[in-house]
Parts: sequence; C-alpha cells; structure tokens
Amino acid sequence: MPTRPRSFAFCGGAYGDEGKGRLVDQYVSDYAKQGRVVVYRDNGGSNAGHTVAFDNTKVALHQLLSGTFIEGVTTILGKGMVLHPGDLLEEIATVKAATGGGIPAKILIDEMAVVLLDTHRAYEAVLQDFRTGNRGTTGRGISPAYVDVLLRHPIRMRDFKPLNKKKLSEHYRLYQALCAGLGQELEEKEVPTLSGSKQKVGNETAFIKRAQAQAAELEQFISGVFDVVQDAWGDEKTTFVFEKGQAVGLDVRWGVYPDFTASETTFSGIFSSTEGVVNPRDIEVRAGVIKATYMSSVGIRQLPSVMDKKLADKIREDANEYGATTKRPRDIVYFDVPASAFFARVGDLTHLVATHMDIVYPNMPIKVCVAYLHNGKTVPYRPDQAYLHTVTPVYQEFAPWDVAQLKAAKTRADLPKEAQRYLEFLEKSLGVPMLAITTGPKREEGIEC
Ligand code: IMP
Repeated sequence: MPTRPRSFAFCGGAYGDEGKGRLVDQYVSDYAKQGRVVVYRDNGGSNAGHTVAFDNTKVALHQLLSGTFIEGVTTILGKGMVLHPGDLLEEIATVKAATGGGIPAKILIDEMAVVLLDTHRAYEAVLQDFRTGNRGTTGRGISPAYVDVLLRHPIRMRDFKPLNKKKLSEHYRLYQALCAGLGQELEEKEVPTLSGSKQKVGNETAFIKRAQAQAAELEQFISGVFDVVQDAWGDEKTTFVFEKGQAVGLDVRWGVYPDFTASETTFSGIFSSTEGVVNPRDIEVRAGVIKATYMSSVGIRQLPSVMDKKLADKIREDANEYGATTKRPRDIVYFDVPASAFFARVGDLTHLVATHMDIVYPNMPIKVCVAYLHNGKTVPYRPDQAYLHTVTPVYQEFAPWDVAQLKAAKTRADLPKEAQRYLEFLEKSLGVPMLAITTGPKREEGIEC
C-alpha cells in the first residue's frame, strides 16, 4: 500500500524526553519553506515539555506544538489530548512575550479535546495522599482527566465555547465529593500551575468564574477540526507532521506496569483522534526518537540496565537530564536493546532518530544491554515491573568515538568508524533504519542518514 507523501510522525522511542520537539521543529521549519504545513498532536497534555529555540530565546512548550513559532503553520491540538485552559493561556502569553506580540502559527483546538482542570490535579494529589506509595506522575492531573472520558462525563473544549456553567458546576461537585470521600477538602487543595507555582482550587463560584474568564480568551482557538484535517490530509501538497507526546515506553498499554501515562503514546492514537481520517499506517515516515548511548526515565519505574552511579551522574549533568515539566532529575541507565526492540515493534516504527550521539567519553566503552537472562535462559522484554525485577542484563561493549570528528561530520560516511558501526548495530538489533542522528544540542548539529 502506498503511503501518503509528505507525512511524518515522531514519537519517543523509549521512556520519554528523547528530544523529539527539536526534530519536529526542524522538519516543520524546513517544509514550511516549501508550502503549507499542518502539525498535529493526538495525546497527552501539560505532562509533556520541550524547549524550542526562537531567535535567541529558549521557550518551554507543554501543550502547544513545536511549530508554534513558525509563520503560516497550522498547529492542531487534537481530540485525544487533555488540555488545561489556565496552562494554555499561560503558554500563549509566553509565546506572545517571546515574539513581542503575536503567535506566528495558527492554533486550532479541537472542540472535542478533553478539558483538564484544577479539580483533576487536586484529586490526583488527594489520591496520592490516600494510597501507600508514590505513583510517580507529573502531578498535572492527566489520568483523572482521561478517566472522566471512560466514565462518560468529560468536559470537552466545546463546553468552553461558551462556558457550560451547569456542566462545570456538576463537575466541581463530583470532584468535591470524591475528595471529601477521601477525607480532604477540594476548595483548600493547592495545585501546580504551569510555571510551578501553587494555586488554590477555591470554592465553586471562584472555580467557575476563573473558567469563564479562560473560556472568553480561549473561544477564538476552539473549533471543529474534522474538515480541516480531512481536507489537508487529502491535499498531498500539504506537509503533515504528527508530534506525539511522551514515548512508547510510557503508553497506557505498553508502558511498564504500574508506571505509565494514561494516553496512547504510539502512533495508533492518531487514528482515533482524527476520527478515522488518518490511518497511521499511511504515514510515510513514522520515526521513534531514541537517545543513542543511554536511556533516561523519570517516574518510579526501575529499569534493569542500572548504570554505574558515577557515570550516570556525569551524563545527567552533561546532557542536562532534568525533567522539562517537573525539573525532576532523570534516572540514567545503559541502553537497553530488548526494551528498545520491543518499542520499535509495538510502536510500528519505520525509522529511528538517534539523538545525543555526542554523549561518549574517551577510553570508556559504551556498555549496552543486549539481552535479558532469567534462570540462565534468555528471556524477552515485557512491560511489567515485577517481571523486570527478575531479569539479569547481559552487556556488550562498543568502542567510543571521537566527539570532535563526530561534530565535524556532514554525512553518515564522514562519521568516525566506531560511530558508524554502532549505528549499524542499533539498526540491526531494533530492526529499523536510521532517518537522522543528532550530534549536539545546537540546531545545526544533525545529520540525515
Ligand atoms: P502522568 O503522565 O503525569 O500521569 O505520569 C505518568 C508517568 O509518565 C510518570 O512516570 C511520569 O514521570 C511519566 N511521564 C509523563 N510525561 C512524561 C514526559 O513528557 N517525559 C517523561 N516522562 C513522562
């Protein structure tokens, strides 16, 4: 079956924070020079976070997409997302401050996208206090908002155009009862805002008043997007870039039980979010972004390929491995082939993008977990923490490469021989070819493969 030309999708190929925002930004700005570009996201919300460079300023985006700073681009926040109105307005204000006025891209919010409110954040915190053991979430209320959909009482973005006060009032009372049932008062709960400061949920009147002010500002962005997506997808001169939130290893079905996010982080979520318009199998390039020489993870999952602590601490500082949303230090582990090959398969990847190729050290072999053993037998990866505790990693070492030679390379053939061999190893063991690599944090430090 032929795929649709000019269509690209990027997802995290491991446990998140692989640097897809930069890739998406690059593809969008390159293709925007040739014609119309649509950027679409179908999952997640303000649990995501990526930094985009605009002129000389760096701006952290969460719910807004990577093409936001590019003139003429249409960005669509799709049905499968959970969107926090207050955070959205804060982000829009940040974008306007960075540009000195306007928003370069057009922002369309699907009227069917789910609204995530302070009530969800409060309830997630109340649950956290009630249960034993931290569940490791970002605290942004993501799973309660998705649960609203399963329980068939979500607030949709169209309930903010204009504000459906009755629905919001019922919603507030439900969450008030849920919190009270677990011994806490919703009104008094303090929840995080986008910038990290805390804000009281307040009483019902204050809650609705806030929503009303937000609705008045957001209305202009909210609309039915079905026709826009259908027309643009049907016009093969339009470039489509799908920017997933999170990563395959955090998927609601494929993530390490019990620490995963509540959305579909594989490309399959695009099918339902676009209401069947875009079959992800028709997307020409479906790339999984991975860190080339190690993996990072933030949450409570404990990955088997535990790294030497000194090296992990060094990589954390060198690669600035701190959460973009929560600033939590990320766990750093050795690159795990069984897990990555699993993600490539269930994620239905056609390509890989290997980032952080510059994170290698002279005279220090790159240690890679190439298999798992259990009772002396080779066993597969499975997305279950209890199971992962029972496996013993088998390691293979690869020669490091010269970083100066890596950074000077303009093509794959110019790369140091050791780096070329390592990339071939990744392609072979994950079963997917490379689309591109990045050799440093700067925009120009990348090579198409
Ligand atoms: P939630 O998405 O806040 O419900 O968190 C569920 C799990 O996903 C936790 O382990 C989070 O740390 C993790 N997570 C969610 N979003 C991201 C992300 O963008 N990068 C890395 N980890 C994430």
